[in-house]
Amino acid sequence: MPFVRVGSVSDLPPESVREVAIGENLYAICHAGGKITALSGVCLHRGGPLGQGQVRDGYVICPWHAWGFHCETGENDYDSSKKVTTYPVKVEGGDILLQLP
Ligand code: FES
Repeated sequence: MPFVRVGSVSDLPPESVREVAIGENLYAICHAGGKITALSGVCLHRGGPLGQGQVRDGYVICPWHAWGFHCETGENDYDSSKKVTTYPVKVEGGDILLQLP
């Protein structure tokens, strides 16, 4: 599966998240605990934009009703059986590369 450049590490400060749209799909690119990870950008609750949320204690917090999803595993903070999809990410030369499904 191809890796696609989705931004620069320099544009994603520590403990932040940003939204990336590729085609019709939204992704949340997280920088949490020194790691860059990627999740589906669509909240499992009511479809809120996770990539427009905040990072807190390793979780991305949905801006609509504050559900949290772990930046590495995608697990919900209250119910780990609820998980958003995660995607492989690598960093090369300061670029963030997301592996598309
Ligand atoms: S839509 Fe994300 S918490 Fe409700």
